[in-house]
Amino acid sequence: MAKKFYITTPIYYVNARPHIGHAYTTIACDTIARRQRLLGADTFFLTGTDEHGQKIERAAQAAGKTPQQYADEISAQFRNLWKRMGISNDDYIRTTEERHEKRMQELFRKIRDNGFIYKGTYTGQYCVSCELYVDGAQPGDPCPTCGRITETVHEENYFFKLSAFQDKLLELYANPEFIRPETRRNEVISFVRSGLRDQSISRSTFSWGIPVPDDPGHVIYVWFDALANYVTAIGYGSTHAGAQDAFKKYWPADVQMIGKEIVRFHCVYWPAFLMAAGLPVPKTIVAHGWLLFEESKMSKSRGNIVRTETILDVLGADALRYFLLREVVFGQDGSFSFDALVQRYNSDLANGLGNLASRTLTMINRYFKGEVPRSSPELADEVIREIAEKVVIPECNQFFADYHFSAALESIWIRLIAAVDKYIVTNEPWSLAEKQDEHSQVRLATVLYTAAEALRIATVLAYPVVPDAAAKIWTQLGLGDIKQFDLSKLSWGQLPPGTKLGDVHPVFPRADKSAIERMQQMEEQQRVPVAEDKPSSEINLVAEMPVAAPQAGPPVSATPAVSEKITIDDFAKIELRVGVVKVAERVPKADKLLRLEIDIGTEVRQVLAGIAEAYAPETLIGRKVVIVANLAPRKLRGLESNGMIVAASLEGGKPVLAGFLEDVPVGARLK
Ligand code: MSP
Repeated sequence: MAKKFYITTPIYYVNARPHIGHAYTTIACDTIARRQRLLGADTFFLTGTDEHGQKIERAAQAAGKTPQQYADEISAQFRNLWKRMGISNDDYIRTTEERHEKRMQELFRKIRDNGFIYKGTYTGQYCVSCELYVDGAQPGDPCPTCGRITETVHEENYFFKLSAFQDKLLELYANPEFIRPETRRNEVISFVRSGLRDQSISRSTFSWGIPVPDDPGHVIYVWFDALANYVTAIGYGSTHAGAQDAFKKYWPADVQMIGKEIVRFHCVYWPAFLMAAGLPVPKTIVAHGWLLFEESKMSKSRGNIVRTETILDVLGADALRYFLLREVVFGQDGSFSFDALVQRYNSDLANGLGNLASRTLTMINRYFKGEVPRSSPELADEVIREIAEKVVIPECNQFFADYHFSAALESIWIRLIAAVDKYIVTNEPWSLAEKQDEHSQVRLATVLYTAAEALRIATVLAYPVVPDAAAKIWTQLGLGDIKQFDLSKLSWGQLPPGTKLGDVHPVFPRADKSAIERMQQMEEQQRVPVAEDKPSSEINLVAEMPVAAPQAGPPVSATPAVSEKITIDDFAKIELRVGVVKVAERVPKADKLLRLEIDIGTEVRQVLAGIAEAYAPETLIGRKVVIVANLAPRKLRGLESNGMIVAASLEGGKPVLAGFLEDVPVGARLK
């Protein structure tokens, strides 16, 4: 019987549209799932959306929608994007689906019946953005994970007896496979060793969640609700025999992939919940690093996201997949830039695999009437065969199994594709073709067979990462459907001589420089910098880029970004000045944006501010505002913004401009 393989992504919050940070995790999982299927495993790949909780309720309110309408819209965006990208998930779970809600309640009941849930009172701080209880924080303290100010909650809650699992969790971590990579495992071990407190797992001050069974005045804490998706989606708690069988077959998960900021939830709370319910824990939890853009973690609240659609429109899904897995060392943070993307695309895909395919197949068409020639054993070159068989196939097996995607791709590209390119150049098949003697003809057949066989091997090894292109090359090689190939049996010489090639077309046309500009412009047009996801009463710089962004930090004791101390010299670098608004007008087709001309004493500046929903332009004329005067200018909607206005961002993202009670002269500096 085929081995089963169950892999999951985190389920994504529906408070923000998808960006390439989300795509990164999904692509990594899709790659693993595709490779497992090709190896013959009975694979189940799950993704979905996380739709309950206060954060979603508030985001919906701010958008003037019901939470369900709001969740429906954003969940559909994720689902459609994965479809468009050809993601091969077998199911898509939404936590607002009835199947999840009912089964989740079953899990709650089970844990309560097992004696690990009790009622108590919680007074403390809560971070709505992270949906996280912050132990030990005082009112007004920032969240240790995201730096936003926490809110005080005083509630009667249900508590989960996390404290009962400290030793069992430490035993679990003794297995080095449970948390990968090692650095994350060490962080989790030290967190758990420092002691575990019972966790509040219900809320009663709002209602957007799954009701606690038999106590509907409480809703289940969103993280508890969300984590359960991994078992509810495959049938836990269902009364249907089919669903129960699926659960028996697929659980425990083989790989649960997450970003590093949610390690604690997955490696501490999740296995504890499962143990409390008497269920097995997942085999491996793999945490990857962050995708950075403009030097900080790509996220909606920082306004530095790159949409996946832009890249799909210009270069296609394979380009993004290849770039992310080749360029970023899995487990570490990595930067995204359009320049690097296009450079990689051209050097490795257009000139690398794409060029090898088209030159090899075109020559077989020309010199052998489109039929794979026979290699002569006497004249065969063993070098390429040995690289493929002794180096690249075993390296790929090892590297893919260890989630070292970049190393696996390096092996295929640098060891094999580059060697075959060199082999073709050295042997000059085009010169051999001109000679009529038999030796040259046999040699030509051997060289082209070798190139085509190496191409076949490179293609099927690269398939999980570049599935579209690989499937096309496979058909062009005359081999039919690549998904039917048994990767576990891959070896040299499986390409049958005489195979009739399919139609040959380039799979990766070269991208010119304008591709970079086009993508940048497409993103500029989408970016309306307004604080959508900031906690209440936070000072926010409304126009232009977001406030100093939290840097990547460990998930368990992440750096408190906003509370991090700076020196007076750091502060002095920011030139804050009083200005007066001379001109204010709406920007066409940008609902949130105003174009302002602001006199700052020495000059009049054009500033674009995301405040159109809170201020009518005519009310701003003559108003004194505070602007960050020494910010590098940038373009928004094709207009230059030269500075940034300071405002408080209220609940739901509404901006309130900073001002003065006394009269202050235009141009005065704030120190
Ligand atoms: N809803 C929770 C997860 C619940 S799982 C039971 C959540 N959602 S999220 O929408 O914020 O998505 C988090 C995941 O998206 C990260 O763990 C990571 O997998 C991916 N990423 C989002 N932004 C990312 C980057 N900038 N870089 C890399 N991955 C990122 O947390």
